[in-house]
Amino acid sequence: MAHILITSGPTRQYLDPVRYLTNASSGRMGSALAAAALSLGHEVTVISGPVNLDYPSRARVIQVISTEEMLVAARLAFADCDGLIGAAAPCDYRPQRVAQEKIAKTGEPLRLHLVETPDIVATLGKEKRDGQWVVGFALETNDARFRATVKLEKKRCDLIVLNGPAAMNSMDNDVEILDRRGQVVEHIVGTKQHVADAILRAIDRCLIAQQPSPQISGPQRSDSQQFDL
Ligand code: C5P
Repeated sequence: MAHILITSGPTRQYLDPVRYLTNASSGRMGSALAAAALSLGHEVTVISGPVNLDYPSRARVIQVISTEEMLVAARLAFADCDGLIGAAAPCDYRPQRVAQEKIAKTGEPLRLHLVETPDIVATLGKEKRDGQWVVGFALETNDARFRATVKLEKKRCDLIVLNGPAAMNSMDNDVEILDRRGQVVEHIVGTKQHVADAILRAIDRCLIAQQPSPQISGPQRSDSQQFDL
């Protein structure tokens, strides 16, 4: 059994107290992955941006708003986890300055200066310790396999799940799973739950089953010794 961290849903980057930038992500893929991992007997922690769905009740859910908050929560939780599945669509840009009061209309164009937010998968990919693994997602519209392979290397992922824009806000998905060498190990089509179940089986086979089994230190004690009878 593994403890799996899943990032899910969009994040928001506020411009002022009422307006924000975000991504069109429903959190459905993250929720399906959580259900798939739980059904294989794994422990699951989900870090989710604002979504309109319920995660499986047996998952521990940490709610966040911004990409920076998701990163802080993910780094903390990852310390106790065996692996990360980065299924979130964090907002990649934030305004350099957040207005404290609602920006009033002036009739003139509003210029926004945007800066990049941190990349959660890349940060944890860089920080992972021996035995920990990271699975990323890549949503591409063109040169899909090439771009996914570049992300896989750049973010130090152990597997990457490649999907297209039809995945956004949809009930279904069509994905390829690429391994560290960029080889397609699986092509899965179907509902997000069907795809999530197959992704978790691939993670079990390619990553979790590859870990050395925990060492039993010292001689095994009998029940009577354990309870000091
Ligand atoms: O946005 P991009 O296509 O680079 O996303 C690829 C992977 O990186 C996904 O797994 C996504 O969850 C992750 N990501 C992230 N933090 C970001 C942007 C993307 O973890 N700021």
